[in-house]
Amino acid sequence: MKNTLFTLVPAFAFAMGAWAQVSPEILSERHAMLRLEHNGKYLLLPVEEKQENAHIRVVKDNQLVNTINCRLAVDKVDYYVPYEVHEGEILDIAFAANSRYTGSIKGFTCWNKMQYTDEFTEKTTEKYRPDYHHTPGHGWMNDPNGMFYKDGKWHLCYQWNPYASYWENLSWGHSSSTDLLHWTAEPTALVPDALGMIFSGSAVVDKENTAGFGKDAIVLLYTSARERQTQSMAYSTDGGKTFTKYSGNPILTADIPDFRDPKVFWNEDIKCWNLILASGQEMWIYTSSNLRDWKFESAFGRNYGNHGGVWECPDLMKMKVAGSEEEKWLLICNINPGGPFGGSATQYFVGSFDGHEFKCESAPEVTKWMDYGKDHYATVTFDNAPDGRCVAIAWMSNWQYANQVPTLQFRSANTIARDLGLYSYNGETYCSVKPVVEMDAARGKQIAAPAARCEIVLTLKGDAQITLKNKHGERVTMVYDEEEGTFDMDRRRSGNVSFSDAFPCVTSAPTNGKLRQVRLFVDRCSIEAFDADGKMAMTNLVFPTEPYNRIEIKGKAKAKVYALQ
Ligand code: FRU
Repeated sequence: MKNTLFTLVPAFAFAMGAWAQVSPEILSERHAMLRLEHNGKYLLLPVEEKQENAHIRVVKDNQLVNTINCRLAVDKVDYYVPYEVHEGEILDIAFAANSRYTGSIKGFTCWNKMQYTDEFTEKTTEKYRPDYHHTPGHGWMNDPNGMFYKDGKWHLCYQWNPYASYWENLSWGHSSSTDLLHWTAEPTALVPDALGMIFSGSAVVDKENTAGFGKDAIVLLYTSARERQTQSMAYSTDGGKTFTKYSGNPILTADIPDFRDPKVFWNEDIKCWNLILASGQEMWIYTSSNLRDWKFESAFGRNYGNHGGVWECPDLMKMKVAGSEEEKWLLICNINPGGPFGGSATQYFVGSFDGHEFKCESAPEVTKWMDYGKDHYATVTFDNAPDGRCVAIAWMSNWQYANQVPTLQFRSANTIARDLGLYSYNGETYCSVKPVVEMDAARGKQIAAPAARCEIVLTLKGDAQITLKNKHGERVTMVYDEEEGTFDMDRRRSGNVSFSDAFPCVTSAPTNGKLRQVRLFVDRCSIEAFDADGKMAMTNLVFPTEPYNRIEIKGKAKAKVYALQ
């Protein structure tokens, strides 16, 4: 199988072809200037992750046009990131004041290694580069953002640092897909500006031109992040190829430290837009008729659910409860820290919503988790999905160690897309989570043993222990206990677990009834387990030295392994 399934950003031919060394003007012990020449489309910036950020101000025609923080290499190069060259630009570079170097910065490795090039090839060969999960071609990624479906295409933006594989310089990268599995890179959607970095947010298709940007304009609502967080808006009139920021930004402000991640949707019940955003440990709800003037309606959350951390990235949607005509609302609330196994996780609430106020139907102390793994965060759904579907994607990592996971040219992947629903069990309504139906089409022929990418279908008739392992003794053990009604996954010996004390762990899910079929989606650095009926989901990262190629089963289970195409 070819590596065609992850995002490929425009290809660059790495360090080959045009090679021209840069000549910095050293201005002081910490300060240098670089006049960009037209020696190639990109200037490769050498990164050394253990260094402090150098602060780069991009100046053109005497104006500040961009600022970038990048850990430029002092001693050695970990990897390169491409900076797109615009003629006439000057990079004004200030190194950290507490740099351990007191002598001249002239000797820094970055000057010898910076080079112009017309092309740059992503290092798609990295061992833990997922085969079929969405990843950025290079750089850091966190939350999925601005997801919408239009004209047969799923659009997925994401929190992206194009200038290194750690959290910084937040922009919105953008990919699209026709099948939720094969992703194609699109031009960057949003880059930081004078209002701040671009934090998380959402997208809507404005079918009736309520905002005045045009019929079917795509409107993005996002957080501009500086000392305080404000909400801003951008729009696209070319189907999502390019976005223009609204000149009246910001459109929503508040004197609150954590005030972010607006999710907008059209509420047919009140014929109005609703916006829900995270404010400290509450979710605030607004209404608008034009997407820019927002009226505060109510706050939800005090005393409800888990409050072990800040509430982030909300979502709110109406769905039918399986097996009935009854409709209820699902409020998604990502929380960090406070997750069931430490760090980040997605909790949710079920209740009613009249367009103005959300009322949770469960007792305040009830906490419901959408996924019982440790690497499932910032879950949000696509706007305008066909057939009334609620399709969600989560960031497959955890803030406890996301910046330390053992990858280099890129860091982080998204989960496979999931179809959400509601079901009743023991007097409560829960969110069901299933791999999207598109994953069925990806199932290939049956194969004899697990591989780097595969789907394993477990048929269960009672208690069972399932172990995936490789010849190095690295293993992931899953245990189904029918009487307890639990499904556990143990990754303490899964391979490289040493990069963070918070990584080795056993995660455990309540099964809400008997499990009869479990689907395991295995990729190069992840395992996602789903009850085929949607009652349980568990997403965990793993970093084996070699892919697991053996499966061992004890107890009442049978396994079939399928190639994934
Ligand atoms: C969640 C989050 C959001 C914020 C973004 C910043 O992971 O903290 O609340 O908008 O990441 O990158």
